[in-house]
Amino acid sequence: MKHLSKVTDCTILDIPKIKDPRGNIAVIEEAVIPFSTKRVYYLYDVPSDASRGGHAHKNLYQFLIAVSGSFDVMLYDGADRQTITLNKPDKGLLITPGIWRELDNFSSGAVCLVLASEVYIEEDYIRDITAFELFKSRRSDS
Ligand code: TYD
Repeated sequence: MKHLSKVTDCTILDIPKIKDPRGNIAVIEEAVIPFSTKRVYYLYDVPSDASRGGHAHKNLYQFLIAVSGSFDVMLYDGADRQTITLNKPDKGLLITPGIWRELDNFSSGAVCLVLASEVYIEEDYIRDITAFELFKSRRSDS
């Protein structure tokens, strides 16, 4: 079930690429990620001391790609934490619903491309970490 997801459900997926001495192409087609993309956005011009994220989603799947530069993604499922560095445009991080995430340590010029399974819905966010921990503990009882 979505809300029971663990940090270990968040995996790095390879993005198929067409290598070419003139420059490579990375292509994300349907089979690459386990959801249909309804929204695409990107973070850019992020100061090196800034932190993004700091929330979880109830239903949203996301796929994060460092299309340029690098940044760290800290994942937390209410019990375990894991920090993953994204720094390759042909690898992406799948984040399942019910995972707290914080993004920081952005390199100069880093761009974080995000494919999302839903349009923007503020009600899908859990922005308070205590509320998130309660959400996870209640859900794992049921
Ligand atoms: P938020 O998702 O909290 O940013 P991040 O997780 O990258 O730090 O969004 C920041 C603000 O932007 C918030 O007011 C909601 C708004 N927003 C939209 O209106 N649409 C979107 O698709 C996204 C991602 C954010």
